[in-house]
Amino acid sequence: MNIILEGDHTSFPCEGDTILRAALRAGLGFPYACNTGSCGNCRFTLVEGSITHASPPPAWSERDLKKNRWMGCQAVPQSDCTIKLRLDRSYEPMHKPRRMASKFVHATQITHDIFEFSFALDAPMQALPGQYALIYLPGMDMPRAYSMCEISQGGDIWSFQIKLVPGGAGSAALGALEPAANVGIDGPYGTAFLRPEAPRDILCIAGGSGLSPMISITRAAAHSPELTGRTIHFVYGGRMIRDLCGQPMLETLPGYGHRLHYWPVLSNHPIDDPDGWTGARGYVHEAISEKFGDELGNFEIYFAGPPPMAGAIKKLLFERGVPQEQVHYDEFY
Ligand SMILES: Cc1cc2nc3c(=O)[nH]c(=O)nc-3n(C[C@H](O)[C@H](O)[C@H](O)COP(=O)(O)OP(=O)(O)OC[C@H]3O[C@@H](n4cnc5c(N)ncnc54)[C@H](O)[C@@H]3O)c2cc1C
Ligand code: FES
Repeated sequence: MNIILEGDHTSFPCEGDTILRAALRAGLGFPYACNTGSCGNCRFTLVEGSITHASPPPAWSERDLKKNRWMGCQAVPQSDCTIKLRLDRSYEPMHKPRRMASKFVHATQITHDIFEFSFALDAPMQALPGQYALIYLPGMDMPRAYSMCEISQGGDIWSFQIKLVPGGAGSAALGALEPAANVGIDGPYGTAFLRPEAPRDILCIAGGSGLSPMISITRAAAHSPELTGRTIHFVYGGRMIRDLCGQPMLETLPGYGHRLHYWPVLSNHPIDDPDGWTGARGYVHEAISEKFGDELGNFEIYFAGPPPMAGAIKKLLFERGVPQEQVHYDEFY
């Protein structure tokens, strides 16, 4: 089917795909973020044609329905369509996303509930540090979004650090993966990737499941010849000591302890301190506010984690007057 952008003299094919993903595969700057129907950034107006949603998007409202607005990441055309949308060059993909077959290689335990899963792709593919992919797991109709922590040099092994959520369908399917299981991977996606050209020190903030993209960005920044003069701060927020992670991965990187620093913070560690925790306490946004205060505007800031954490950090950075162009993030719905 053919999707025409009204007034833009642009069209692109969309076969068995969502309109957002087909547009990105064609190299177009279709605005989006989560790719799972939750953020609403990919909303567009249908001018002519017929559409269904692959899965009801949480961000879709009665008002959208009345105004014939649809979510690009879930919208599947039933006919040729004309749509109204303003393209934005900042969303044009550096690596056009592709649907790939892969085989599960192995999983390594990081904490009590975070595991690193690796998959061997049928053909190499590159991605930018901090990007994510959609993973189609056995027995599931809808994919889940997970950020890569590492891509092998040849681009054929993609690894993801994933927090398994009790009762989660994707988590259950990941936990049940057999060696060499067939898994579909669609990517790369996302705009919260490392900007090596930015002339500032780097602050990476990860909360809970947000570990993976921050590890990817920090690894790339630590190894980048363009960034050897920059300081990198990595702040990890967990609930209790058993949630802490990241440090062993950073310790192996060049500059650790000199220009690369790890700052853990715990939000729910018991006050009477039975495990002897003497480090920072509180939520991760409180920790960065206390530690960096008015200096926050001097950093290129990357963060990832659950929506409440992302909301609190966005509010803090806004209040501190950090320019939006210096802030790059993914909310993990
Ligand atoms: C951009 C992005 C990057 C992410 N990166 C990571 C990461 O690196 N590591 C990590 O641990 N987690 C990451 N997540 C979170 C992850 O995608 C899952 O939400 C989480 O692992 C729980 O999934 P679950 O299937 O176990 O739980 P479930 O409760 O079954 O599903 C949780 C989420 O999946 C989505 N979902 C559920 N049903 C549907 C459906 N029918 N159609 C479409 N979407 C549906 C919704 O967003 C829902 O909030 C990321 C999320 C996003 C948006
Ligand atoms: S709702 Fe489609 S990208 Fe978030």
